[in-house]
Parts: sequence; C-alpha cells; structure tokens
Amino acid sequence: MLECSGLSKTYPAARRGEIQPPALSDATVYVRRGECLGVVGESGSGKTTLANCLAGLFLPAAGTVSYDGQTISAPGARRRFPRVRGIQVVFQDPASSLNPLRSVGSVLREIIRVHDLRPKGSAQARVDELLAAASSSGWPSRARSRSSRG
Ligand SMILES: Nc1ncnc2c1ncn2[C@@H]1O[C@H](COP(=O)(O)OP(=O)(O)OP(=O)(O)O)[C@@H](O)[C@H]1O
Ligand SMILES: [Mg+2]
Repeated sequence: MLECSGLSKTYPAARRGEIQPPALSDATVYVRRGECLGVVGESGSGKTTLANCLAGLFLPAAGTVSYDGQTISAPGARRRFPRVRGIQVVFQDPASSLNPLRSVGSVLREIIRVHDLRPKGSAQARVDELLAAASSSGWPSRARSRSSRG
C-alpha cells in the first residue's frame, strides 16, 4: 500500500565545491495495510530523510513513492501530488512543532478544511464533537501552550 523504490536524496553542500555524500541512497520500502515498519540505524544514517520523502515533505533526487497505487512523490515533479490523508507525521516534540499562538480549535478546523472532511459550515460541529470525545471542554479557545501534551 505504501511503497517506494530507488529513493535517493543528497542535501546541498554547505560550501561550494564541497562533495556531499547522499543522505539516502537507493532505498526501497514496501508496507502493506496493517503492517508496521520500524527503521533502525545510527544517527545520521538517513531515517528522518527517508520518513520525510515518504511523507512527501521532501522531493527525492531519484525514485518514487506511491500510496494505494498512486504516485505521490517523484523527483523534480512540478505538479502537485494529491494530498494523502493516510500519511501523517507525528512529531516527537509537540512543543516545538505546534504553533503556540494557535488554539486547538483553529488547528482542528484547518485539518478538516484542508482534507475536505466535512461540508463547509459544519466543521465547527465536528471540532466540538472531537473535543467532547477527548473530554476537554474549554480547549478550543485555549492556546496550545496551556494544554497538556499527551
Ligand atoms: N536539512 C539538512 N541539510 C543538510 N544535511 C542534512 C539535513 N538533514 C539531514 N542532513 C544530513 O543527512 C544525513 C542523514 O540525516 P538524517 O537526519 O536523515 O539521519 P537520521 O538517521 O534521522 O539521524 P538521527 O538518528 O540523528 O535522527 C546526515 O549526514 C545529516 O547530517
Ligand atoms: Mg532522525
């Protein structure tokens, strides 16, 4: 369901003329529905680079990524690939990855809008539902910094 083959990525060299070794070289991954894949390697071996390529956050220098049979990333692509609802990145440190000035409600509304999850006008109802499910009344107006990170 999620697959990539021949993925390579080299970051630009810090100084002109310097040779930069590839951060990722010819990586091939195949993950079926329900499967879990762990990637283990020493620091700097390219785990985060691979994850960013799979999530479509970086364009690879070579290789393609596909999800449910649809190409979602390829080198040098000009056109935008379809947004993939099934892929998301869970950052390790929400304190540095979430905008402290934004409220929980506005972040949830944005996701509903971007992924077209509810017809226009009923996004707020869904936000209320989600927050009620998390038994956290009062959240929508609270800034992220005032919420627990769990
Ligand atoms: N934004 C960047 N610009 C330049 N080089 C980078 C960048 N990000 C990573 N690198 C380099 O690419 C290589 C792979 O890094 P990457 O972060 O993918 O490794 P990692 O396996 O996730 O490491 P860690 O276990 O420390 O998180 C390293 O040599 C790193 O220095
Ligand atoms: Mg990493």
